[in-house]
Amino acid sequence: MRTNGKKKLAFLTLGCQMNQHDSEWIAGVLADGYEVIEQPDDADFLVINTCSVRDKAEHKFFSLLGRLRPLKARRGGMIIGVAGCVAQDRAEEIIAREPMVDLVFGTRAIASVPEMLARFAETGQPQVNTADTSAFDEYPMTRQSAASAWVSIMQGCDNHCSYCIVPHTRGPERSRPIESVLREVSALAEQGYREIILLGQNVNSYGRGLDPETDFPALLERVASTPGIRRVRFVTSHPKDLSDRLIEVMGAHPHVCPALHLPIQSGSDRILPLMKRGYTVAHYFDRVERLKERVPDLSLTADVMVGFPGETDADFLDTLRAVERAEYDNIFLFKFSPRQGTPAAAMDQRYPNPSVAQERFERISQAQKAITRRRYARFIGREVELLVEGTSKRDPAKYTGRLPQNILAHFSAGTGYTGQFIRVKIMTAGQYSLSGTLLDNVGKAQ
Ligand code: SAH
Ligand code: SF4
Ligand code: F3S
Repeated sequence: MRTNGKKKLAFLTLGCQMNQHDSEWIAGVLADGYEVIEQPDDADFLVINTCSVRDKAEHKFFSLLGRLRPLKARRGGMIIGVAGCVAQDRAEEIIAREPMVDLVFGTRAIASVPEMLARFAETGQPQVNTADTSAFDEYPMTRQSAASAWVSIMQGCDNHCSYCIVPHTRGPERSRPIESVLREVSALAEQGYREIILLGQNVNSYGRGLDPETDFPALLERVASTPGIRRVRFVTSHPKDLSDRLIEVMGAHPHVCPALHLPIQSGSDRILPLMKRGYTVAHYFDRVERLKERVPDLSLTADVMVGFPGETDADFLDTLRAVERAEYDNIFLFKFSPRQGTPAAAMDQRYPNPSVAQERFERISQAQKAITRRRYARFIGREVELLVEGTSKRDPAKYTGRLPQNILAHFSAGTGYTGQFIRVKIMTAGQYSLSGTLLDNVGKAQ
């Protein structure tokens, strides 16, 4: 039962980091009346925070609803809310199709959730809000981690890549005022947070439309110089807007992590314009070469897509070659998935067919696996700093931490390391992570 008079709130979060951060925001706006619990079964209010970037993600949501039906039937009073990108895109359809859903709120309507809950309690009628109800400023947050914090610096996206639903589900690009970002970062530092992850769909266009106008390198430098902050990362960078100044700040500031996620999507100069990406392969590698020159020990990662409408064998081989040339530490690899309403969904979908796309997916995946192993092996024998995230999911006797390069490493130790910076010596490197020995223990343990 309720221990502190608060009701219980649980999340099933299906999307990207921005979507996960939105769950922290939803928990924040409800913090007066609700405490967050892990187990959906015990919740008074269960929020499903959805993603519609690919068909698979959207499908996951609808099949999850099916599985939750018995729970809702068993616990009649449980309120079910749907948030996120599917909610924004298909609110009316969800309410019409799914009588078990009580609340549907869009990506910019989070501030109105307490009011929607109150109205639902009053009327018993399902509530929908997909309007834009929030000014982009400071929000209450209930955070998952005590050491590492996401900070949203932009909302929406104006790029309209031809395959992508995000500009539709998240609206036009909006930059958050710099002073507002810096106030949040300072407050986080005072609370003990040491790592900040700045979030936006295209952080490199940060500052447009702000008065006075500013830019991402200026923001990054100030965030990284906040007393108490030891590490700053950011996602996502768009190659077309990646400036020399950003590369300089990354190379020069000791608190900016040497990690960059720079989605290439395709290595073909025929496909990139069809995707409306706004850069050529040559421009992409010009940026990569400069980055590798100026940012010591950079870890580069990317999103890569195969099976875009009309992708030929030659286009695909260009992408494979680009992946090999970039030597990414890792990639997120996707098969194109048509999203209703996007220009690419109206392109000829007959070629490549699904089995060809699958084959291409596997070839790049295999190639990257070998590259990742080789790249991770460079750490063997090195002493590195980890920010410890907690005990390992697979082996509770081990801790998991992150290198500045955003790579996971495991080590064995006693208790009390969560949230600490520690040094380990890397002993082995696998496909997904590294493994090391806590340096204090090196002498004693062996
Ligand atoms: N703003 C980020 C990416 C957001 S979506 C950026 O521009 O890099 C995350 C990734 O999902 C994209 O980089 C792309 O690789 C993939 N993606 C987006 N739409 C897709 C679609 N329709 N089919 C397959 N993959 C898609
Ligand atoms: Fe989508 Fe392109 Fe915007 Fe990224 S930059 S969110 S891929 S439209
Ligand atoms: Fe993120 Fe998925 Fe929306 S990737 S922005 S939750 S469509």
